[in-house]
Amino acid sequence: MSILRLEDLKQYSDTLRTRQGEALDVRFVEPRDTDELQHYFRSLTTRSRYNRFFGAISELPKGLLHDFLQVGERERFTVVATMTVDGFDTIVAEARYAFHAETSALEFGLSVDDRWQGHGIATALLKNLECRAAALRAEHMFGDTLRSNQTMISLARKSGFAFVNHPDDWKLVRFDKEINVAPKDIPCASWRLAALSRQAVSPSASA
Ligand SMILES: CC(C)(COP(=O)(O)OP(=O)(O)OC[C@H]1O[C@@H](n2cnc3c(N)ncnc32)[C@H](O)[C@@H]1OP(=O)(O)O)[C@@H](O)C(=O)NCCC(=O)NCCS
Repeated sequence: MSILRLEDLKQYSDTLRTRQGEALDVRFVEPRDTDELQHYFRSLTTRSRYNRFFGAISELPKGLLHDFLQVGERERFTVVATMTVDGFDTIVAEARYAFHAETSALEFGLSVDDRWQGHGIATALLKNLECRAAALRAEHMFGDTLRSNQTMISLARKSGFAFVNHPDDWKLVRFDKEINVAPKDIPCASWRLAALSRQAVSPSASA
């Protein structure tokens, strides 16, 4: 059973902080974000896009853009992190995650606008993804990165992930972290509430 009331996605928004204390809003992507999301990916450096998608693309191909805008379909979700930049609400980071019920795993990928890298945004976003994983009762979360992507490898190491070989692709390394947080201990208020209300509706979900 999904813990999300998909008709009201706005309630699943969180305010995070950059290392300097600037507010960062994290919310599910909405149809109105279509152009800005594409603009965000076009504005990434070639290297960042390559590191995010493991291939040379200049923008999201139509099919992938469509997939990115579907929230909750087949337990796949896209979140955007926005900040006020020069007076405008601007996407500065994104993450896409999928919950695999058969393995109780949350798989994810993420990126941060090059102009905003090094401000602790990915660190904060990863912590938020951990809350989302715990609320979905995932037992672990993982991502894949190119072996050459030292920034992601260093970020994953600092965030407590362990590394394993990728099962199919020697160019990639997989980072994986066990999630062992009871719903009442989830350190993000909105996700703690979502998990607790799910537990109340379906006590067996916590068994
Ligand atoms: C990897 C990425 C998400 C990190 O985002 P970020 O917001 O800059 O990361 P943070 O500021 O939270 O930094 C976290 C850690 O990453 C490492 N890091 C950040 N910038 C780095 C750099 N230029 N070189 C090496 N390590 C770096 C550091 O260990 C840093 O911790 P520290 O600041 O305590 O030293 C970002 O570089 C990015 O979007 N890259 C392109 C897409 C990508 O590679 N995605 C990952 C594959 S899915």
